[in-house]
Amino acid sequence: MDDKSNDVESDKVSEAPEAPEVPATLERIKHKIVVMSGKGGVGKSTVAANLALALGRKGYSVGLLDVDIHGPTIPEMLGVASETPIIENKKLVPVRVSENIKLISIAFMLPDKDSPVIWRGPMKSGVIRQFIGDVDWGELDYLVVDLPPGTGDESLSIAQMMPGSYALIVSTPQEIALLSVRKSINFAKMLKMQIVGIVENMSGFICPHCGEKTDLFKSGRVKSVAEEFKIPFLGSIPIDPEIVESGDRGTPFILRHRDSLSGKVFEEIVSTIEEFVAKG
Ligand SMILES: Nc1ncnc2c1ncn2[C@@H]1O[C@H](COP(=O)(O)OP(=O)(O)OP(=O)(O)O)[C@@H](O)[C@H]1O
Ligand SMILES: [Mg+2]
Repeated sequence: MDDKSNDVESDKVSEAPEAPEVPATLERIKHKIVVMSGKGGVGKSTVAANLALALGRKGYSVGLLDVDIHGPTIPEMLGVASETPIIENKKLVPVRVSENIKLISIAFMLPDKDSPVIWRGPMKSGVIRQFIGDVDWGELDYLVVDLPPGTGDESLSIAQMMPGSYALIVSTPQEIALLSVRKSINFAKMLKMQIVGIVENMSGFICPHCGEKTDLFKSGRVKSVAEEFKIPFLGSIPIDPEIVESGDRGTPFILRHRDSLSGKVFEEIVSTIEEFVAKG
């Protein structure tokens, strides 16, 4: 294994408090998939939102949890930013995105969208702990969790509070993103999370006119890292202007462009995940 693995924020992991009690609200969830990356802006939230929708389209009952305290984006991406979760029996009831997809975002709890959240580590962990314990998800086949970038407090709290979660790592093909992928892999391993696989996002550009693929960065490098660590490679999603457009408009990409190349990649990702979780 690469020596750089020692760069992981191992001090944080070793200093972490004892794993807290698992909230009862998580007991009726079959599979938890935590979408993470060492680097920002690589497409975690895009992958998390579209993965949840692709799972939902297959008939699964799906929850989507956005715990990006400093930049929650999923409600905007899914066009439900103006909704508010209601409280029933002292628990938060998630917002319904569709019949079988529910969403809870830290964005719903913040008083003002335009004010930055300035919280230190222990406060963030406390908020996440309370937040997770207070959501009534009901029965779910899958819970997809969107994390902020890196291996900081939010990631650590989630990994500790959701034992048995699978990590799904997102990377772009640039060298700098690959360095942080190794950190994410080692972070997951240290926290004993099984890694369901790695997705290469923004992998080449499909010309909207001629349909030809151009590799803007060397492609295939994420796959090599997956092979090196013996982790499933889940697929490559190209740079697709429709993904930006859909995210900005709050109209989920996967629902509008099912037959596009990226739409098919999401379907393959779902199939690989189904096989992986079936093995237990
Ligand atoms: N395959 C793609 N093609 C084109 N644009 C994309 C693709 N994937 C993501 N994007 C766009 O890139 C931007 C960043 O994506 P996203 O917010 O999903 O990244 P992130 O990793 O969640 O970022 P952060 O680290 O800030 O949470 C968004 O505008 C999104 O629409
Ligand atoms: Mg994000």
